[in-house]
Amino acid sequence: MKEVIIEGLGKYTPSNLVTNDQLSEIIDTSDEWIYSRTGIKSRYISKGENTSDMAAKAGEKALENANISPLDVDLLIVATCTPDMFTPSTACIVQSIIGTDNALAFDISAACSGFIYGLDVAKAMIGSNNYKHALVIGAENLSKSLDWEDRSTCVLFGDGAGAAVLSKSDNIGLISSFCKSVGEKYECLTIGGNDVDSPFVESKIIRDSKLRMDGGEIFKFAISVIVNSINKILEENNLDINDIDYIIPHQANVRIIQYAAKKLKVDIDKFYMNMEEYGNTSGASIPIALSDMNEKGLLKKDSKIILVGFGAGLTYGATLINWAI
Ligand code: ACO
Repeated sequence: MKEVIIEGLGKYTPSNLVTNDQLSEIIDTSDEWIYSRTGIKSRYISKGENTSDMAAKAGEKALENANISPLDVDLLIVATCTPDMFTPSTACIVQSIIGTDNALAFDISAACSGFIYGLDVAKAMIGSNNYKHALVIGAENLSKSLDWEDRSTCVLFGDGAGAAVLSKSDNIGLISSFCKSVGEKYECLTIGGNDVDSPFVESKIIRDSKLRMDGGEIFKFAISVIVNSINKILEENNLDINDIDYIIPHQANVRIIQYAAKKLKVDIDKFYMNMEEYGNTSGASIPIALSDMNEKGLLKKDSKIILVGFGAGLTYGATLINWAI
């Protein structure tokens, strides 16, 4: 068995659905402003569940969907930019909750591209080592990292988690992928860490622990990398955009997707979008979208799907999938 397929999917969001109108009661904004610029109408906001809690629930659902026991998982990856702690990894905490006791567990930090990075790493590890079943989870508790007085960012994001079980198979599943980073633009989107301070530091470096974003820069970057990533993956696999059934982009902003679709000269309906309900859930957005599509019966055997992500780092990447089940 040389191939790697997605065998199960799951998602979890907190029950607290917050609409744009509800947000306009706590900050100076409106449904009209948010919806017209982003396509977002609501988002789920945690009332205390942390990233690991949501990750574990999505992971358990994916295992159930794949009919695989937690003990059969030998690799557990959590992609997140909002970990519970600096250490241990969120993946280790998830391992303790769901009992994947035979797994190697670690986090990936690639923000909104994290799930794409996670699939690439899991596929490589399954291919080159003796791993059989990987659980790859994208999970975020972004609400704890937002500045709730900054209306230009706090209206954009939501909390949640999505998960996929990857297994060794004879069938073709994850066909091809690539991931890239553009570190020189790291300041465009940050969630700061600890201050740099000790008795030996002469001038303390203060870190801003809240999410800060240059929205305009990210907007331009996103359109260009979505278009280039899709063209690259099509070219490398001798495919035409018409061979693709669905493109699942990182769910940041409907206007980004509209521009990208126009540049690619492809019908907007080829892009699956659900940011209207969930907002931008960063590393969780692509697996939540995949899981939604699975629940709606949109993923048919041998469908060709492209996942495409972009985010803080800056990072980006794409994965070409043949839906194998
Ligand atoms: N409600 C009302 N007014 C607002 C709000 C709000 N929530 N936020 C900003 N404004 C105001 C601003 O104060 C400004 O007013 P001014 O002209 O009087 O100063 C005006 O609206 C325009 O602000 P801009 O920031 O220029 O708004 P723009 O039209 O560029 O849209 C947006 C901002 C939606 C953030 C856009 O830049 C964008 O979508 N960028 C991409 C962001 C993104 O997708 N990030 C995530 C990707 S990576 C990741 O997910 C981690």
